[in-house]
Amino acid sequence: MRILVINGPNLNLLGLREPQIYGEQSYQDLLSYLHSCGEDLGIELQVFQSNHEGAIVDAIQEAYGKAAGIVINPAAYTHTSIAILDALKAVALPTVEVHLSNIHERESFRRHSYISSACLASICGKGFSGYREALLLLLEQIK
Ligand code: DQA
Repeated sequence: MRILVINGPNLNLLGLREPQIYGEQSYQDLLSYLHSCGEDLGIELQVFQSNHEGAIVDAIQEAYGKAAGIVINPAAYTHTSIAILDALKAVALPTVEVHLSNIHERESFRRHSYISSACLASICGKGFSGYREALLLLLEQIK
């Protein structure tokens, strides 16, 4: 089974970026973690990161017919992007939203997610392990 994992803007700067919020592990560390989860769970993972909204929309559209589900951390686009929401609704693949930090315990502008309404679940504040939880949820759903 193939799952597409999408990471949005500035997640490529993990480790450097506000380590008190996002931790000290780098994006490379996240990639290694994801690949070891994939091996463990017997899932073929395709991981994509972009700082550009349109590129994320393109990746979601391209997943149609190729991936069985999507794990997405849309980063700041969570709180702004109707285009990403519409793309997820258009392809209608089972999708789980992940945030490293707990967006509900931060600034008020982070409390609203445009993306949640296209997702089976939203996992927040669990760091890297939130991605593993999301993969497990998708596995259950897709079986
Ligand atoms: C984030 C939370 C967002 O509010 C923020 O803009 C990010 C990362 C998270 O993983 O906690 O870039 O999605």
